[in-house]
Amino acid sequence: MLLEINDIHVHYGKIAALKGISAEVDEGEIVTLIGANGAGKTTTLKTISGLRPLTSGSIRFAGQDISKMPGHKRVLAGIGQSPEGRGVFPGMTVEENLLMGAYARRGDFSKELAEVYELFPRLAERKSQAGGTMSGGEQQMLAIGRALMAKPKVLLLDEPSMGLAPKLVQQIFSIIVEINRRGTTVLLVEQNASQALQVAHRAYVLETGRVVKSAPASDLLDDPQVRAAYLGGGAEAQVGAGASADCLEDTPPVAAPESVEEDGDASSS
Ligand SMILES: Nc1ncnc2c1ncn2[C@@H]1O[C@H](COP(=O)(O)OP(=O)(O)OP(=O)(O)O)[C@@H](O)[C@H]1O
Ligand SMILES: [Mg+2]
Repeated sequence: MLLEINDIHVHYGKIAALKGISAEVDEGEIVTLIGANGAGKTTTLKTISGLRPLTSGSIRFAGQDISKMPGHKRVLAGIGQSPEGRGVFPGMTVEENLLMGAYARRGDFSKELAEVYELFPRLAERKSQAGGTMSGGEQQMLAIGRALMAKPKVLLLDEPSMGLAPKLVQQIFSIIVEINRRGTTVLLVEQNASQALQVAHRAYVLETGRVVKSAPASDLLDDPQVRAAYLGGGAEAQVGAGASADCLEDTPPVAAPESVEEDGDASSS
């Protein structure tokens, strides 16, 4: 198992945000966390990347207990995060933003840059533009590209489709599938549950700091409770201004991921 979250409790002051979350992400998977506002999705990702301390519980990554490892070491260990709200450095150019993603490593990053530019041709066209003047969708691409510069084993994505027009939402989800196809494991947090469940292998449903359900993503797409709580109203709300609900229906779903083979050779180091 690449990432194992074991009964984690996390507090903001006296407020318990996570009340005993356990979850696993295997190498090669796309796993999604879905849940309403305030369920604890962002907190879970921040705790994995070391931005929030654990009150109790543990996190293992690539066979190592990282519960107390500082965040910058987790980046070096292979945990990459594209944060909620993107966090692009507005005064730096696109290329400078991308290079910041590799700051913890040494050497020549031309190969990584070329890969990111291949995934996001728009970033290549705009490499000298200030990050802050990029559009919302472009900044989202930049945030994902920057996280990829650190060559993560697992990429943590917090609401990558937030605020994007339906067409761009499709594009971002296709790119997530492509990143995964090229070998990066993905832990995806989304309010857009319908899309997330279409690209993910497995999913966890969070409610007020707890996991209330975990299952193969395709099962949750058919789960009446999940449909009622997260897919019915959620899908409509996601369509956003100026787009008709039909638009979402008509858009072909992003290619479903191939199932991850359980070959059991989690090569021990
Ligand atoms: N900095 C903070 N200080 C105090 N409470 C916080 C802080 N950040 C989050 N919380 C609380 O922790 C809980 C979980 O928040 P979190 O941001 O993880 O939710 P989320 O599932 O990501 O929600 P959303 O879908 O709205 O992004 C919420 O009750 C929230 O109010
Ligand atoms: Mg959040």
